Amino acid sequence: VKCLNTIETILRRSVGTEPVVAHTEGAQGDDSGEKDGPKSLSELMADRQEQAEKSVLISCPSRTSEKKFLKFLSKHGDINKHFFYESYGVYAVVEFARRDSVASLLESAAIPSVNHECMVPFKSRLLSLSNHSLAAPPAQQPGLPCRPQATVSINELIQRLSREDSVDDQIGALTETYQLTEENSRLRFLVCSLLKDVAAAYFPECTIRPFGSSVNGFGKLGCDLDMFLDLDNISGWNFKPPKSGLSLEYQMKRTNSERHVTQSILSVIGECVDHFGPGCVGVQKILNARCPLVRFAHQPSGFQCDLTANNRVAMKSTELLYLYGELDPRVRSLVFTVRCWARAHGVTSSIPGAWITNFSLTVMVLFFLQKRSPPIIPTLDRLRDLAGPADESVIEGNDCTFATDFSKIQLQSNTDTLEQLLGDFFEFYAMFPFSRMSINIRKGREQNKPEMAPLHIQNPFETSLNVSKNVNTSQLDRFVALCQESAWLLQQSETRTQRGSSGNRTTTPWGLATLLLPSKVVGIKGRKKYKKEGASERIKSLLETLKNKNEEPKS
Ligand code: CTP
Ligand code: MG
Repeated sequence: VKCLNTIETILRRSVGTEPVVAHTEGAQGDDSGEKDGPKSLSELMADRQEQAEKSVLISCPSRTSEKKFLKFLSKHGDINKHFFYESYGVYAVVEFARRDSVASLLESAAIPSVNHECMVPFKSRLLSLSNHSLAAPPAQQPGLPCRPQATVSINELIQRLSREDSVDDQIGALTETYQLTEENSRLRFLVCSLLKDVAAAYFPECTIRPFGSSVNGFGKLGCDLDMFLDLDNISGWNFKPPKSGLSLEYQMKRTNSERHVTQSILSVIGECVDHFGPGCVGVQKILNARCPLVRFAHQPSGFQCDLTANNRVAMKSTELLYLYGELDPRVRSLVFTVRCWARAHGVTSSIPGAWITNFSLTVMVLFFLQKRSPPIIPTLDRLRDLAGPADESVIEGNDCTFATDFSKIQLQSNTDTLEQLLGDFFEFYAMFPFSRMSINIRKGREQNKPEMAPLHIQNPFETSLNVSKNVNTSQLDRFVALCQESAWLLQQSETRTQRGSSGNRTTTPWGLATLLLPSKVVGIKGRKKYKKEGASERIKSLLETLKNKNEEPKS
């Protein structure tokens, strides 16, 4: 019962601020009765893309009157939704009810002529407002109501969690604090749509779609924006018309390797974004990576962007993660908690290197949930068996087929609480035979490692690849040691009970909040010692160390 209450609480919480795409105004409700369960990711993305196409991004003086601003814009048509946020100044996202309102607005906008700058004759949907008559009267200056686009600091989160009444509530509160908001999700799709306008200079029918944590349900406010330049809709690419005797002459001139095509496309788009992309700064072309990309910062939104092309397998893994996250609310909550815990202890990092990535961690959580008894989520092989003809997908020889219709997926009844799951997750990986076994969510069971990487997590679709190839032994050891410590901490009654009354600003960190405090035992110096001893020995000595520390008189 407790577990069901928690699930209900989380569901209720996430509906209000649901990131993904799921609950859009107007789109939600009536038409959702056609199919059982949540919408598929592609349906949700289509809704969000449609909203983005009808939206503009406007830089506003902070003294603008909201009322006058809306009246001014509504001359071009009805407004569906608007909100303000702050990022190097105040911006407004405005979604019109109709696309022709955007065209009308752009027609009325001037391309500025400034002596010391060269303007490009391109009317983007990133605008700047300099209409002084829209300023709020000096007597009434509350400022525009800005929606936060960043999350709270770890210390504030610890305080916030300490005021909750149970570990399950703490996990719910963490998820609620970190998940993308409705507004942030809209902004991500708008940035993709604005960039599509730039890329359309070369490929008029292209689409730019977000993938990864911006849409898979596991994104935290402030996460990067992974984008995929999709050329599949361009006629001739995937489309086989009846023979007319005509074919289009448009081909690579010097090579026919697909990788080279991707590199060339990204190279020209990268140049274009660098020279003409409004608000895009620090453009880097990283074309020799396994997955070539263009990286840049989009200043008006504050997003760090990675633009890729021909990356359809990543789109599939995004869809898979989204599906798992929607199957049971405990999945998202556990992933958010483990990701936050990992970041707090430096297990993951924003700098590329030998660290475990968020994607690897997510797959580890999914694997753990498949191993529960009864399992909380099905294996990928099971999802493939449930797939219908419309789900069939083979990309570059890889079988990417799995069921996307929620009504076909029956779950087993498992009532584990989030507190139980979190403790058992740490115990599971504290004891996992990483040296011999590989993590495999396709089969839902560990398999002998095919190669000697310290951490082996099979890529769910490109099965010969290891998702965590970059991870070195010391990073894996740190992860294991932290799992041991956190498993132990969660078993201590001192950790599990709230001290100080709730609502009290000085509540002592307890429960999940304790696990986010700096580790007492896993430091740089301790690493060598951990390597030499067996797992059970390590846990024993860890217990001793922690007991001694806790018994020290408090000053
Ligand atoms: N991906 C993959 N294989 C990898 C790495 C990434 O298939 N070895 C795909 C996954 O779908 C992943 C997406 O690319 O979600 C984006 O990768 P990344 O930005 O590294 O991870 P995110 O899930 O977006 O997480 P983060 O919030 O850390 O950006
Ligand atoms: Mg990402």
